[in-house]
Amino acid sequence: MIYMLDTANIEAICRAVDLYPLAGVTTNPSIIAQENRPLKEILLGIRECIGRERMLHAQVMGSDAQTMLLEAIAMRALDPELIIKVPVTQQGIKAIKLIAAKDIRITATAILTPQQALMAAVAGAEFLAPYVNRLDNICSDGINLAAEISLLIKHYHLNAKVLGASFKNVQQIHQLALAGAHSVTISPDVFDLLLSHPLTDSGVAGFRADWEKIYGDNTNVLDAL
Ligand code: E4P
Repeated sequence: MIYMLDTANIEAICRAVDLYPLAGVTTNPSIIAQENRPLKEILLGIRECIGRERMLHAQVMGSDAQTMLLEAIAMRALDPELIIKVPVTQQGIKAIKLIAAKDIRITATAILTPQQALMAAVAGAEFLAPYVNRLDNICSDGINLAAEISLLIKHYHLNAKVLGASFKNVQQIHQLALAGAHSVTISPDVFDLLLSHPLTDSGVAGFRADWEKIYGDNTNVLDAL
């Protein structure tokens, strides 16, 4: 599983880089706007925190393909490793073709149907981001969407990966992993929940209590050897 964090909050990103096997950070225009700072400052700040080896995804905002291409080129001038997110509209698909022709990595985003994903992959997108929770919210099936996209990738031998997006709970992420998704992008609060279990906490507390009765308070293995 390729884990990514869906935020532009520097504090949350640096914390997750330290704690987790994080492969990258994704943003979207709403996430960027929450920071209320110049885009250049936000992207450079994230890059400084994650290093060159992790992925950073940022989205274009133009409403026509030519503008999206110019945005992609400008953002890549700022960050040569940046992966460009493009929504799967008609102009977006055209932009994916144009941007891919420049050998720029692309994430197709705002995917709500398998056919949007298929066309984006054929056009040149590397990551395909189905919005799981947004579909679940309207009594549709986000996991099934991701599973069908995985099948299409295999069926057509496409060089693309599912990037599960828009989660509100761990069960959605678990179901997505079982469905064979290659990668996920998760908000910081839900990311922390991936490891959360009260029996894990009480189990660890029990180990400490038993240990400290014999080896003393605040000791560890190094003190006991
Ligand atoms: C990722 O590409 C999306 O921007 C993101 O996961 C959407 O999440 P939301 O539905 O919680 O806004």
